Order: sequence, then C-alpha cells, then structure tokens
Amino acid sequence: MRLDDLSLWYLADPSVPRYVGDLKLVSSGKGVSLHYGTEWLAHGFALSEDLPLVDIEHLTPGRLAADTQRAVGAVDDARPDRWGEKVIRFVDKPKRLSLMEYLYYAGDDRFGALGVSTSSSTYSPRAGSPLPRLEQVQQLSDVVAKIEASEPISALEANIVRAGGSLGGAKPKALVDIGGEQWVVKFFNGEPVDVPLIEHATMTLAERAGITVAMTRVIHLADGNAVVVRRFDREQGRRIHSISAGTAIRAVTPSGEEPEMGYPALARILRRVGITQDNINQRDARELFRRMVFNILLDNTDDHEKNHSLLVVNPFDNGRLKLAPAYDVLPTNSGQGYQEFICGALGRDSTLDNAMSQCDAFGLLPAEAAAEVTAVIAVVNTWKEHFAEAGVTQRDIEDLAERIDGEELLNQRANFDQARFQTPPAKRRRASPFRRT
Ligand SMILES: Nc1ncnc2c1ncn2[C@@H]1O[C@H](COP(=O)(O)OP(=O)(O)O)[C@@H](O)[C@H]1O
Ligand SMILES: [Mg+2]
Repeated sequence: MRLDDLSLWYLADPSVPRYVGDLKLVSSGKGVSLHYGTEWLAHGFALSEDLPLVDIEHLTPGRLAADTQRAVGAVDDARPDRWGEKVIRFVDKPKRLSLMEYLYYAGDDRFGALGVSTSSSTYSPRAGSPLPRLEQVQQLSDVVAKIEASEPISALEANIVRAGGSLGGAKPKALVDIGGEQWVVKFFNGEPVDVPLIEHATMTLAERAGITVAMTRVIHLADGNAVVVRRFDREQGRRIHSISAGTAIRAVTPSGEEPEMGYPALARILRRVGITQDNINQRDARELFRRMVFNILLDNTDDHEKNHSLLVVNPFDNGRLKLAPAYDVLPTNSGQGYQEFICGALGRDSTLDNAMSQCDAFGLLPAEAAAEVTAVIAVVNTWKEHFAEAGVTQRDIEDLAERIDGEELLNQRANFDQARFQTPPAKRRRASPFRRT
C-alpha cells in the first residue's frame, strides 16, 4: 500500500471522529501539507496559528534543512519521533518510509487529538490491539529490549508494543492501561544510573518547587526500574488537542525567519493567547519561568521544543493555550553548560543571570522573578534528601552531584543575590516651584 493521500481526523470524542482535511507529501518528500475540508472550514478551528481556516493547501513555510522533515503546523505533533519510527520500521515494516508512513502507522494512540486515516469518509486508523495492562509491563520491557537489540519479535509481541510507537521521544517507551487510563512507560535503557527512578525523583521534586507535573510512579521489574507517566492529553476517554512548544513558536514566526525556540518566546505566547480567566495566562508564564530555573539548576539541559507542550482549551470557541504539565524532567548529566531552549539575552547559557535577563517576557518584575529564583533554589537545595527518600542509591546521587552540586551550578545557587533585583524605591517628585504653599 502506498500512502500518498491520507486524511486527517479530529478525535476529541473518539466515538464521533470528525474529518479535518487531506494530507499530502510535498517538498520532495520532506514535508506534508494540509488542505482543510469544506465541513471543517465551516465549523472547525485552526489547528495552530499558522493553519488558519482558509481554503488553500497549507505548506510548511521556508526551506527545510537537508536532514529535516516536517509536517505543516500542528500536524507535525501527530507523528512519532525516533523511538516510534524504530517501532514502525520493526513492527509494521512499510515498504516506503516517508513522513506519510510514519503518520499513518503511528496508529490511534498518538499525542493529542488528531488521527490519520486512509479514508476521508470513515476514520479507519492502522489496526491496533487493546493497550497492555500493568501486569504486562515486564513482558513489554522484554519486547522493547528485543527491539533495541534488533532481535526478531513474534506477532503477539508486536501487538502489545505497537501502541507505544505512537508517541514521540527517543527513549524506549510503551503505553499501558492502568485502571482505564493511559500511562506512558519509560524503561531503563542500560544507562550508568537508574534513569527511571531519577526521573520520578526529579518530577516529584519539581512539584515541590510549584511546578505542575504529570503524575509518575515507579514500577520494579526484573531487569531494573521503569517509570510510568500519566497522559495529560487524555481525560475520561476524551482527547485533548495539544501542540508542542516548537509548533506554537514556529506558528508565530514570520516566513523566512529563524524561530526563537525558547522560554521567553513561549511565555509571550502564553500571555497573549493563554486563558485570561483568573489570570491563568499570567500564572502559566510565571510557572514557565520557574520551570526554566528548575531545569537550569537541576542540570536538565534537554529542555527542547518537544519537551514542553500546550493544551488547547475550548478549541471550537477561540481556543486558548494552557501550559501542559511538565514531563521528561530529569538531570541530563552532561554538564554541557547550555540549555536546548533559549533562556534570555545570553541565549541558551545555563545561568541564573541569563534566566533573569528577560523576566519581563514572563510578565515578571525583576523583584518578582528574583523571588521565584530564590524559592526554586530553596527546593533544589533539598534534592539529595528528596532523591534518597525516593529510593535513588547513594552511588547514583553522588554521580549526579558532580553536576548538580558541581562548581558551576552550586555556586549559582549559593551566590544568587535576590536583593540585587529589588525595585528601587520610587523617586520622590520634586516639589513644583509653582505649587502654592
Ligand atoms: N504524560 C504525557 N502525556 C502526554 N504525552 C506525553 C506524556 N509524556 C510524554 N508525552 C509525549 O511523548 C513524547 C516523548 O516523551 P518523553 O517523556 O519526552 O520521552 P523521551 O525521554 O524519549 O524524550 C513527548 O515529547 C510528548 O509529546
Ligand atoms: Mg522527550
């Protein structure tokens, strides 16, 4: 089967799929375009700001770099990433491997509320099996290890692991059903430290720092720990249209310009198209600032455009963006000294000065931003005890401490001077010489 024409569907209520439009392979196979259907043009919504409801073929703007493939706007978030592509190559073995195959074979459990079908009259995704249950996580782990080692797997094994290929990211993962809800399982992958347990410890520490996080649990398996993360784009059987930070930022970037992939740009978007009720947009921007500071101090340098997401709230009614819970937050243990996301005037430098430099983009006065930094520092100062309580071994803690408590980061925590950012007292107005006394 050659998948040159696919249809995009919207599945907020999976029992009532709605046809969105047609997808086509463009730019010599490097891009995928979208043309909204008549019904969606009349009653749908713009999937992202760069896909307005107009009757044209939306193309990916600008020239794509030689090694880059991208579907237009929010459609790009409906495709798998490195791990998912590996599963598809291994399990489905399509003859051709273009963006279209990856979009189609990602199946029905992909990120957000979009779906891909070979038909524009019925939603018929790639067939799948029910998600494996928690009791099958050990079995899943064994299958995932086989895929990592490029060993053959049986048809039965292919069925349980297939759904996990629909999500993004590079690390081996799968989807499981826990009590009727979908959770992402992330497995140990032979790293020198217990990464799944460390991810759980970091996420719960982030929560203490006032960051909204996706719920995590640790599962003990024969060959190491796994961490399960509850999906934030599913709610009682409904699916929430969600976009990555990269999609949101690219959508507001004028054609021909480089997108400014970073926290300040994302904060501006949140303040502009976030939820104004109860100042949720301001609070989201403030929380994003906190996340940036936490990531810097905890050595989570892998904070790239797909590791932040936005939920689209009431999409049919002037959809507003809400910062999704944090996920994939853990020390990278690389000590590279720069973040993947721009933090401020000094670009991606992993420093608090850089984080403070554009606090206005987050709607914060320097004094307010400095108070946030101080609060995050107080929590990060407890990381060792918190990690130990979560069960992380002393050996792993010492290993991580080389970075988190290394000179670069520890000095920044110790020397941050909140007083430096106090707003100077307002100048007294000079008495007017003309004032009557
Ligand atoms: N809790 C979650 N709910 C919904 N989507 C998620 C969740 N966690 C991860 N994802 C999606 O899956 C992708 C990969 O997950 P991530 O934890 O980042 O894995 P990796 O460590 O491989 O990068 C993310 O970029 C995001 O799109
Ligand atoms: Mg990730």
